[in-house]
Amino acid sequence: MKRNVNFNPGPAVLPLEVLKQVQEELLDFQGSGMSILESSHRAKEFEAVNDQCMALVHEVLGLGPNYQVIFMGGGASTQFCLVPMNFLGANQTAAYCDTGEFASKAMKEAQMLGKVHVAYSAKAEKYTRVPKAGEINLPADSAYLHICTNNTIEGTEYQQIPETGNVPLVADMSSDIASRVIDYKKFSLIYAGAQKNLSAAGVTLVIIRDDFLAKAKTGLPTMFAYKTFVDNKSLYNTPPVFGIYIMKLVLEWIKGKGGLAGIEKMNQTKKNMIYSAIDAAPDFYKGPASKESRSWMNITMRLPNEDLENKFVAEAKKEGLVGLKGHRSVGGIRFSIYNAMPLEGIQKTVEFMDKFRKSN
Ligand SMILES: Cc1ncc(COP(=O)(O)O)c(C=O)c1O
Repeated sequence: MKRNVNFNPGPAVLPLEVLKQVQEELLDFQGSGMSILESSHRAKEFEAVNDQCMALVHEVLGLGPNYQVIFMGGGASTQFCLVPMNFLGANQTAAYCDTGEFASKAMKEAQMLGKVHVAYSAKAEKYTRVPKAGEINLPADSAYLHICTNNTIEGTEYQQIPETGNVPLVADMSSDIASRVIDYKKFSLIYAGAQKNLSAAGVTLVIIRDDFLAKAKTGLPTMFAYKTFVDNKSLYNTPPVFGIYIMKLVLEWIKGKGGLAGIEKMNQTKKNMIYSAIDAAPDFYKGPASKESRSWMNITMRLPNEDLENKFVAEAKKEGLVGLKGHRSVGGIRFSIYNAMPLEGIQKTVEFMDKFRKSN
């Protein structure tokens, strides 16, 4: 069996242990005589998986009992409109920090549905950083502040979660959820397309605090109201069963690694190794993200010219290092090093970086 070092930005690498368990359980899930893919979402086997997954999200992220965990379809992009649909009232204004392509997409959806205040924008700086403490201009009567905690394309990430006082904080955590220890209780709503750090594509995790949910608008179409999902434990209609099952296994894997503290340690080591390799060769490798905003999950890098970047990607591929091409909107190289990226993959990568620089 050949396993590449997989830097795909999402869908992305999953823990090998999880994949093996899926393989083992696939044809006969826990004695049910069928695979989980074929099981009814009303069957006791799946309901147990759903309940366990919800409980694990609570446990691993350290949420209090006043948080609701739901599983939805539609990807994180659907959340861009569901958040304002549910929480931006006719006489209200929502605040947004524009820190990259996805943050900006989220803001544009809100602008279609109501009034938006741009609390911070890094657009003029080509999205090379996120705001420092005190740089967010947040009116106290905002319906909420929306941030994207990790900017997958640009390779920037908030190192500290902004303080928003009484303004509810809403975050797109698609690319850094469960990657380090943060206080998840600071958020009123979190959403994450699960296909990077938590599961396969098809399921979006949404976490909502009760006091915020109580403010949700009524009269929305059933499937667009968060309350429908909360009231029915995500089983109002057919949920993305396979994605929820894999999320449960990934959360068990995270627990086995020492929870978020253990995962943080591993991620810190991995990102330090790549950033050190970049910083050791400043004439050859350049990280466009400003140092204090550097992402732990998506490391972006430029080489002296595009030909060398293409050569880097092609030669890396020959060595089994795949998925390194930067997003089409920014170019360059991107190392997406989510939780499941093994340390050996990073070791191989820094050796390759050194060899490539010397021979070019
Ligand atoms: C931070 C962030 N938000 C939103 C999205 C869009 O997610 P989806 O494709 O699940 O709609 C992505 C996808 O890469 C992302 O990285």
